[in-house]
Amino acid sequence: MCGIVGYIGTQKAAPILLDGLKKLEYRGYDSAGVAVQTSDGVIDIRKEMGRLRILAEKLDGGQVLEGRCGIGHTRWATHGKPDSLNAHPHTNAEQSIVAVHNGIIENYSELKKNLAARGYEFYSETDTEVAIKLVDYYYRGHKDPIKALSEFALRVRGSFALAVLFRDYPDEIYAVRKDSPMIVGIAGGESYLASDVPAILSYTRSVYYVDNLQLCRLGKGTVEFFNLDGERVEKSPVEITWDMKAAEKGGYEHFMLKEMHEQPAVIRDTVNSALQDDNSVDLSETGISEEELKKVRRIIAVGCGSAYHVGVAAQYVIEELAHVPVRVELASEYRYRTPLFQEGDLVIVISQSGETADSLAALRLAKNHGAKTFAVVNVVGSAIAREADFVFYTKAGPEISVATTKAYSAQLAAVYLIALKLAAVRGTVSAERNAELASALRSLPQKVQMLLDEKEEIKRFAFEAMNKKDVFFIGRGIDYAVSIEGSLKLKEISYVHSEAYAAGELKHGTISLIEDGTLVVGLLTQSGVIEKTVSNMEETRTRGAVLAAFTAENNRKLPAGSDWTFRIPETDELFAASLAVVPLQLFAYYLSVLRGNDVDNPRHLAKSVTVE
Ligand code: F6R
Repeated sequence: MCGIVGYIGTQKAAPILLDGLKKLEYRGYDSAGVAVQTSDGVIDIRKEMGRLRILAEKLDGGQVLEGRCGIGHTRWATHGKPDSLNAHPHTNAEQSIVAVHNGIIENYSELKKNLAARGYEFYSETDTEVAIKLVDYYYRGHKDPIKALSEFALRVRGSFALAVLFRDYPDEIYAVRKDSPMIVGIAGGESYLASDVPAILSYTRSVYYVDNLQLCRLGKGTVEFFNLDGERVEKSPVEITWDMKAAEKGGYEHFMLKEMHEQPAVIRDTVNSALQDDNSVDLSETGISEEELKKVRRIIAVGCGSAYHVGVAAQYVIEELAHVPVRVELASEYRYRTPLFQEGDLVIVISQSGETADSLAALRLAKNHGAKTFAVVNVVGSAIAREADFVFYTKAGPEISVATTKAYSAQLAAVYLIALKLAAVRGTVSAERNAELASALRSLPQKVQMLLDEKEEIKRFAFEAMNKKDVFFIGRGIDYAVSIEGSLKLKEISYVHSEAYAAGELKHGTISLIEDGTLVVGLLTQSGVIEKTVSNMEETRTRGAVLAAFTAENNRKLPAGSDWTFRIPETDELFAASLAVVPLQLFAYYLSVLRGNDVDNPRHLAKSVTVE
């Protein structure tokens, strides 16, 4: 989603802003812009529709702008179409207050009306322009940026990370945030501001996370934080331990391909972070105690997109191993329901970014109702991680490709560990079974590697399936959980229409869509239901479908006349999702490449969905 970068220091600001925005390109955007201020206060705004490189070329890499202080933005359109007028930065009438904004101002039309009644005019369709004019309105009274931004924060509804330049304060950048991330980094005489760590990682590893409803003022190499009453707040920086190389392609054609290949290491690191040599699981780093785990009577797993799909797999694994009932909820739906919480509820919020607006809202809803909250999050220090009672950090490292692969795999590993721990405290698995499961977990990385090594086979399959218009993924139980993820991967990056169905549901309506040549992909890893899914696949074949089976190595029950069969190494069936998903990721990837799509930045999508 939108990206923000700010810089103030001794060097020209624009090249640093463009460099930071480049690092945020992966988040998805449709226009880009910068505003640079000279020490006499003059603010120069430049923005362009389309890729960042167009803006960079026009600005000769930023060299044409002299100022040493500035803000930059990549916009993912919400209010107003993607064009250069609606692109950020936006300004007040005099170009004396200029800002960039991430998030959504929900009451912007009401504010716009009030401001228009006071004589304000608007040149764009954006909520951001309204935000700036509201800041302008408050600022006129007292000329105090901190006060104006506090008044703004109290008046607006919605989410915002706002970075602002004031002509009256040429050597300063101001910022305020609510529910949209913002970080600050200081290195020597230089100060940096960003919506996400990769933007400034090459300049500093020591970052301050601006808290919700907090403000900050950046000078050259200085930062001060304030609460909404204008009182100073002391904060300590956090050290970022990511390797910068993790945010580079490292010889792979796309980030997605690289990230798929990182899955063995990511699963190994995540498993090793909690699984002990004696096969016990230690979750003490998450902050949850065994006593608290013993009190759990029900789990509500919440997430969006692929993170939700992890919740679907978790449901089967946790219920089977720990005998705790699990509900799986789409965060965007759950947050608006009337929640019925009960004693012993544990709400597990799954999120790679830790910033997804709906997942964050679901977490807050649960907290407000007194439920305990447990986050499975990848980005250290993200909002969900900070607000949850307990946090399991997955060890995926930075994920750049918009379509998640390695973070999904790390989340699966995390929920397996949670299931094992719950089973241990509740005494629902024997020591022998626990040892078997621990050994299966330890062997997952090597089996994922075997699947990656077979990628040429999947590439051929993608080539043959290249012109398919509809692809159905079906499976039962954990195979259903994998089907919904495989189908989403295909849709989002290859733009091929696809649906995923619990295999038994097909004949309750959807089977009428099957025609000559429709591709039906069946997942066959769960021995108890393989025969059932095979029958469902055959039912589609008699109606013209072509079949592809992704099946456990030793399974011999295959649909008659399957057109393609792919073998998945044997593992404990509860963990089969971690293996079965890999060829489906590869399939989506190769189909996307063959169709000439922008694999890492699929159309209309954004990496971290910070608006609802
Ligand atoms: C799909 C994908 C999305 C995310 C979803 C949740 O490939 O990446 O469906 O899984 O937007 O994002 P996080 O995990 O950051 O909350």
